[in-house]
Amino acid sequence: MTTVDLPLLPLGRGSDPLSERGVECPGDLPPASDPDLVARARAAKEKLGERLFVLGHHYQRDEVIQFADVTGDSFKLARDAAARPDAEFIVFCGVHFMAESADILTGPDQKVVLPDLAAGCSMADMARIAQVERAWDALAEAGVQDVVVPVTYMNSSAAIKAFCGRNGGVVCTSSNAEVALDWAFEQKGEDTKVLFLPDQHLGRNTAVLKLGYSLDECVVWNPHKPNGGLTPEELAQARIILWKGHCSVHGRFAADVIDELRAKVPDLNVLVHPECQHEVVLKSDLVGSTEFIIKTIEEAPAGSSWAIGTELNLVQRLKNAHPDKNIMFLDRNVCYCSTMNRIDLPHLVWALENLAEGNLVNQIEVDPQTEADALVALQRMLDLPGKTHRD
Ligand code: 13P
Ligand code: SF4
Repeated sequence: MTTVDLPLLPLGRGSDPLSERGVECPGDLPPASDPDLVARARAAKEKLGERLFVLGHHYQRDEVIQFADVTGDSFKLARDAAARPDAEFIVFCGVHFMAESADILTGPDQKVVLPDLAAGCSMADMARIAQVERAWDALAEAGVQDVVVPVTYMNSSAAIKAFCGRNGGVVCTSSNAEVALDWAFEQKGEDTKVLFLPDQHLGRNTAVLKLGYSLDECVVWNPHKPNGGLTPEELAQARIILWKGHCSVHGRFAADVIDELRAKVPDLNVLVHPECQHEVVLKSDLVGSTEFIIKTIEEAPAGSSWAIGTELNLVQRLKNAHPDKNIMFLDRNVCYCSTMNRIDLPHLVWALENLAEGNLVNQIEVDPQTEADALVALQRMLDLPGKTHRD
């Protein structure tokens, strides 16, 4: 069993090992003011041709997303990465856990590149492998481990995915959490419990609103408290043990803003991501992954009004693409994902030009044992029946 608590993200390579300010790019990072950045990115892409495949998550900046060969939510991008075995370089415009998953799902000769190594995810950081293994041991001591199936959200480190692979569990995304939980609850008979990592909100929203469990059947495991802060009786009664993690972006949306907007905007539809808090989802009309949000807006009638609770780059893009619909952001304040925004045009140009000149930079490489175990859990997800990423 691994007990070393390694940091999830390779932050701080360079001058300051404790801070992402220390991340350096070898060579020159072009200044953001360089008027030739778009032309430089185009030229480097052209030079690399079919050797290159650029993936872009929907939360990326417009300046970056214009260079993506495909865009998608984390489920679609995982499938897209796996479907391009001929590409030598996969440049991942997204965050670290997505690039790790792409590395796991691609061949040994394919190189996955994250243009800025500081593009991590605060939610993924909330579940460290040593904490999860401690929790697993505590579940054994409480006498319940043999009926627990671990399910991890894609937004977690490769080490956590590998833990799930080793222990009969599965990965899920916001597109398929319902199907994955259904699968998990079938694995150990009628007493099955699920340990859901690391996003308590996706776990709770799916278990309660999609699968019909009650809030009383959900407990929260706090990794900073002995035994997760739970008594053996609470664990024995629970059906779903939610890791105490959350998204710092989606966790901000508040139920009172929905009330305020509904009072101001007639016939308002509220559409949110399942990483939002349960109270927010309860007050919303529709909940779903980023692909679901996009599809819903594409299909909405002209003149309809929508308040959307997800990352701001995507909401702004939807607003620009659908001027015939009244689209607004659900938060009172600006709410970008700061780590998704780390990937900007200068970093993309820097990565592409280096690759075009034969320098492999910022490669994300998962070690072989972790990769093999994580692949088991990822493959179980890809093999789940049913829904596509847009349903
Ligand atoms: P999806 O891409 O699964 O919708 O997840 C949203 C997210 O927070 C990605 O970091
Ligand atoms: Fe992580 Fe939330 Fe940013 Fe997604 S939006 S990368 S879950 S912090």
